[in-house]
Amino acid sequence: MRALKGDAVSPPPIWIMRQAGRYLPEYKETRAIAGSFLDLCYNPKLATEVTLQPIRRFGFDASIVFADILVVPDALGQAVSFHEGEGPRLTPLPDAAAIAKLDPGKTGSVFEKIYETVSLVRAGLPANVPLIGFCGAPWTVATYMIAGRGTPDQAPARLWAYRDPASFQALIDVLIETSVEYLCGQIAAGAQAVQIFDSWAGVMPQAEFERWCQAPAAVITKRLKARYPDVPVIGFPRGAGEYYAAFVEATGVDAVGCDTTMSPGAMAALAGKCAVQGNLDPLALIAGGAAMEDAVRRILDTLRGKPHVFNLGHGILPETPIAHVEKLIALVRQGG
Ligand code: CP3
Repeated sequence: MRALKGDAVSPPPIWIMRQAGRYLPEYKETRAIAGSFLDLCYNPKLATEVTLQPIRRFGFDASIVFADILVVPDALGQAVSFHEGEGPRLTPLPDAAAIAKLDPGKTGSVFEKIYETVSLVRAGLPANVPLIGFCGAPWTVATYMIAGRGTPDQAPARLWAYRDPASFQALIDVLIETSVEYLCGQIAAGAQAVQIFDSWAGVMPQAEFERWCQAPAAVITKRLKARYPDVPVIGFPRGAGEYYAAFVEATGVDAVGCDTTMSPGAMAALAGKCAVQGNLDPLALIAGGAAMEDAVRRILDTLRGKPHVFNLGHGILPETPIAHVEKLIALVRQGG
C-alpha cells in the first residue's frame, strides 16, 4: 500500500497477475470441483479458496480477488461462457439497438457473489496482505462484447467506433457506470486497492486511445476518488507505449502497470509521476535461469529508490514451473 501511494519500499512488494491460475495444481483441483470457469467465479467459497492458494503457497505481498473482467457483460445480460482451450465466447452485439438493451439495473445479483468473495477473502487473509479488487477497462471489455471473442487486433470494435462513434460512446458510458458501481462495491466489501485492466489499449492511434482508453479511465478514477480518496487506483493500459506518460497525467491514477515492452528506464522516468508496477516478461519466468535472473536484476536495479511494485508485464502462463516462481520471489526479496 505504501508503494502504491508513492513510497520507495525496499525490497519492493511483489504480486503477479493471474497468480491464482492453471500453473497451480491446487487451482486445477478446485476448478474441477466447481465445474466451469464461470461457476468458479460465481462460487464465493471456492473463489475464495483459489484466491488464497498462492498466498499460502508463496507468501505474495498482495492478493487479487479471483474473478474475470467478463463478469461485467455477463451481469449486463450478455451471457458469457468459457470453453476449454478456446477462451471466452459471447453472442456478439449485433447493432446499436442491442447496446440500448443492456441492463445495468440487473447487475446486482451477479456482483453480490463477487462482493461476497471479496469479504470472505479479506477475512481469510493475513492482516498485512492487502486485497486488490479489479475490473476490465471499458475499451477492453467492449472489444469482447462486440466481437464475441478475443480477436488478434480488436478490428470489430475499432471499426464500430470509427463508423458509429455515438453508439460506441453509449456502450463505453454503460461500461463506465457499471465499472464504477462494481469497483465501489468491491471496495465497500473489503478491497483496499483496485486495478483497471485495459489489455487491448495498445492497438489504437493517439486520438482513439485518448477517447476510448484514457478518457474513460480518467472518469472512473475521478469518481472512485470522490467516494474513496484513500484507495489507490492502478491503471494498466497494456501496450500504450509512448502514451503512458499522458495517460498518467490525464487520469490521475496512483500507479500504472507496465507491460513487457517498456524499458526499466522508461518505468523509472514514469515513477516520478506515480508508482509503477511490473514488468517481467512472463516468458522469462517460464525460461528461468540466467535469462530470468538478469531481467529481474535489471528491473530491480533501475527502479531502486522509486515507488515500485514488482509484477509481470502480463498474466502468468499455465506452463510456468512453480520452482521459477519461488526463485523469483527469493530474488526480489534479496534485492536482486
Ligand atoms: O490476476 C488475477 O489472478 C485475477 C483474476 C483474473 C483472471 N482474469 C482470471 C482468469 C483477472 C484479473 C483476469 C483479467 C482478464 N480476463 C483480462 C485482462 C488481463 C489480461 O490477462 O489481459 C482478460 C482479457 C480476460 C478475459 C479472459 N479470461 C480470457 C481471454 C481468458 C482465457 C485465456 C486462457 O488462458 O484460457 C480468461 C480465463 C481466465 N481468467 C483464467 C483465469 C485464471 C483461466 C481460466 C481457466 O481456469 O481455464
